[in-house]
Amino acid sequence: MSPLRELAHAKINLYLHVTGRRDDGYHLLDSLAVFAGAADELRLEQGAGRGGHVGLRVEGTFAPGLRDDCADNLIVRAGALLRAHVGPDMAHRLPNVDIVLRKELPVASGIGGGSADAAAALRLLLKAWGLSISRADLMALATRLGADVPVCLDQMPARMEGIGEELTPAPVLPPCGMMLVNCGQSVSTPQVFRSRAPGFTPRAGLPARWSTLADMVRDLSAQTNDLQDAACAICPEITTVLDALHAAPGCRLARMSGSGATCFALFDSPEAAQAAAPAVRHGNWWVWAGDLCRTGARLEPRADSLPA
Ligand code: C5P
Repeated sequence: MSPLRELAHAKINLYLHVTGRRDDGYHLLDSLAVFAGAADELRLEQGAGRGGHVGLRVEGTFAPGLRDDCADNLIVRAGALLRAHVGPDMAHRLPNVDIVLRKELPVASGIGGGSADAAAALRLLLKAWGLSISRADLMALATRLGADVPVCLDQMPARMEGIGEELTPAPVLPPCGMMLVNCGQSVSTPQVFRSRAPGFTPRAGLPARWSTLADMVRDLSAQTNDLQDAACAICPEITTVLDALHAAPGCRLARMSGSGATCFALFDSPEAAQAAAPAVRHGNWWVWAGDLCRTGARLEPRADSLPA
């Protein structure tokens, strides 16, 4: 990627256990997150003047689902948090920038698109402004933007615990392919958490590696997405999507991601997922098939420097 572009990959929860609840209402989770090749793209353009302000323009397939330039967009909030973090003396020397978001992931759909965009904005702005902040500070900023933002910083497979911000490496994954399907309805995350059946699920026991997809599917089949039933009750079309994925030739496992409505299926290879896609396509459903994101986006340490 050029220094002025970042990809914000879809985050998929291969399983999601609700393990407890904090006093502030946030839920404690145990989840295995991986990233699919499907992504939004953020492009940075020079703005006018200095002060470290971040403007936003949205284009792409799902742009109509987002309001332009709105102050509560996570990209703009990421810029404001970073500006506040470096302090007014440094911020007033930073050039203003515009971020052009090409929105190719469905909005509010359980694949962390908004969180991935926020994390990509942090990576992009750190590079563009030549800033270096500690890993701990970056994680803290990310967590303030949302529980899913920290895992999206590196875009590497990770186990998420706490409210999502406690990250440990995932088991080594076998080669596989993935299909994502979204039925076009957005589901409210707080509503899904509120309407899930009471009770908690223990954290999963995971191996250090899965040598074959069959091993991985066997272990994942013993896990659940604890939000799936509640999301299906709110949006019954999710059940139709899951039925279509289960019936797709070569599907090894099908499940909802996050709080929905996007569902995923695992296949033997990206080619097998792509071959099965026509059998799943239906009406205005968004269907994507391909590989997991295997490169990640690890931030390189860089020297403290400011634009002249
Ligand atoms: O952190 P994020 O903005 O993604 O969360 C959206 C909402 O989802 C929260 O306001 C909360 O209601 C719910 N949530 C939760 N427990 C989590 C993550 C999210 O209850 N671990």
